[in-house]
Amino acid sequence: MCGIVGYVGQKQALEIVVAGLRRLEYRGYDSAGIAVLADGVLDTRKKAGKLVNLETLLGEDPLPDSTTGIGHTRWATHGGPTDRNAHPHVSEDGSVAIIHNGIIENFTELREELTNSGVTLSSDTDSEVVAHLLARILPKVGDLTVAMREVCKELEGAFTLVAVSPLYPDVVVGARRNSPLVVGVGDGENFLASDVAAFVDHTRNALELGQDQVVTLTPEGVSVTDFDGNEAVVRPFTVDWDAAAVEKGGYDLFMLKEIAEQPKAVADSLRGRMTKDGRLQLDEMSLSDEDLRGIDKVVVIACGTAYHAGLVAKYAVEHWTRIPVEVEVASEFRYRDPIVGPGTLVIAISQSGETMDTLMALRHAAAQGARTLAICNTVGSTIPRESDGVLYTYAGPEIAVASTKAFLTQIIAAYLIGLYLAQVRSAMDEADIRAVLEDLDNMPQAVDLVLDTVEPVRAIARELADCKSVLFIGRHVGFPVALEGALKLKELAYMHAEGFAAGELKHGPIALIEEGVPVVVIVPSPSHFLHDKVISAIQEVRARGALIVAIAEEGDEKIVAFSDHIIRVPVVPALMQPLVSTVPLQVFACEMATAKGHDVDQPRNLAKSVTVE
Ligand code: M6R
Repeated sequence: MCGIVGYVGQKQALEIVVAGLRRLEYRGYDSAGIAVLADGVLDTRKKAGKLVNLETLLGEDPLPDSTTGIGHTRWATHGGPTDRNAHPHVSEDGSVAIIHNGIIENFTELREELTNSGVTLSSDTDSEVVAHLLARILPKVGDLTVAMREVCKELEGAFTLVAVSPLYPDVVVGARRNSPLVVGVGDGENFLASDVAAFVDHTRNALELGQDQVVTLTPEGVSVTDFDGNEAVVRPFTVDWDAAAVEKGGYDLFMLKEIAEQPKAVADSLRGRMTKDGRLQLDEMSLSDEDLRGIDKVVVIACGTAYHAGLVAKYAVEHWTRIPVEVEVASEFRYRDPIVGPGTLVIAISQSGETMDTLMALRHAAAQGARTLAICNTVGSTIPRESDGVLYTYAGPEIAVASTKAFLTQIIAAYLIGLYLAQVRSAMDEADIRAVLEDLDNMPQAVDLVLDTVEPVRAIARELADCKSVLFIGRHVGFPVALEGALKLKELAYMHAEGFAAGELKHGPIALIEEGVPVVVIVPSPSHFLHDKVISAIQEVRARGALIVAIAEEGDEKIVAFSDHIIRVPVVPALMQPLVSTVPLQVFACEMATAKGHDVDQPRNLAKSVTVE
């Protein structure tokens, strides 16, 4: 939430910061703003709404040439999405400008204290206090970095902060606690950003900042300390994708591009993880086989789409390993005194690696002595850094707010972990593990086939675009797919959508059915023991007027008599079905949103990385 960019070097800061903000707009688009230092003067422009509004303002009222600048794109928490609440916030005396991502939890006390000391606040945000606190301490300590350290000690909550001051030209200072901030190391120039996408055009050399660290950038160098001023250890890493990965590449929407990338994302996430003799090798996980043999329970914590991936994985991992698997929405986990300990493997699934609810749940699990493992798509992010081990997904950057390729690759990673547990604990025959690995290996091709045949989905979506509500039902692994289909439709088409376990309908939700209500049914294979039970559920809702859209396997002829529309998916083993049946639902939601004229990549009220609790 909120995108942050900082630049200091030899080039025009404005262009670099605006381009960086464009790359980070997925993180929030309630307002955008920029501050630059030019000839000892601080100058800012900021505007409510999307970045384009700021660009228009910059056209009408340009900023001066400058080689030092910071920029912010906001997802509003405290204070509405207005011009005055947009960042940067500047101190009363004009000596400091700051941008902030996170929530400063003690801002009420700090505001009161500042007001009592005669400061006039000019926004409703929690963030603004930082500008005033920095300005107050700056004359005493005479150094922006030292001032930042001191102010950070006064703050509670989560923050990434970046500040510039006309008193310190050619210096950008950042700090982080619980919110993301990475350094881009260039040649005669350096960058700060919430995400490497902001600077990957300029450098692929990056530094991971740790918790409670302050970083100072000049054109010549980068120095990092903790809040007490001790030199800090930072991990360098190289961004392993290039700028093209964060461009639309000929597609109208990032979401369409990312849906199309799924076969490759799945293939990349499987690559290099099996030995030639068909055994799994997940050394990168850095949890010993002995540790894994000692596990008596798996708990998956995640949010949104990642939570649905966890729900899918539960069916497979329990089946393969016979270890109980609990899957929990991360935001609830630590508030219910969960039973976890040294025998629990807690798996945190997160595309961004920055989701605050998941991070807090992970920390709680670690504090109880659990072994922790991240499934993550973002190298260098906080969740893998704070876990005992990590299995990265290789989906490439996911820019559209609606998660697509991350979901498929999270399922792949969770399946690999399940199979690995089965391997080290001898819970399955080697031949059976090999057979599942072969099934997984066939999945990129199967997903590709779905993509070739989704065109009818678009027509159905357009036909149903005026519906008030769509229900999704499924059983077994089809149930989390139904939840995921409903989530996609809610977030993109802004319509009422709900996913249910098909068997649960008769216990209440069937009352929602009336003439013409579309019910999307994830139909298991005719060879699956639940096929007939799902057909019974279809009959129950059809008898009450529902319009049935069936996602059904090629060759399932029995379904024809019970459906108004059929979307075909290739024949795959039962546990692999989510990897194919989710894809039409992504296309369905995308097309529905497009038909309604919505901004698919940046749906209202949302942000890609949810870095506040
Ligand atoms: O980055 P994460 O995987 O931790 O994000 C979790 C959710 O916020 C995310 O999946 C969200 O639900 C998506 N926008 C859904 O499409």
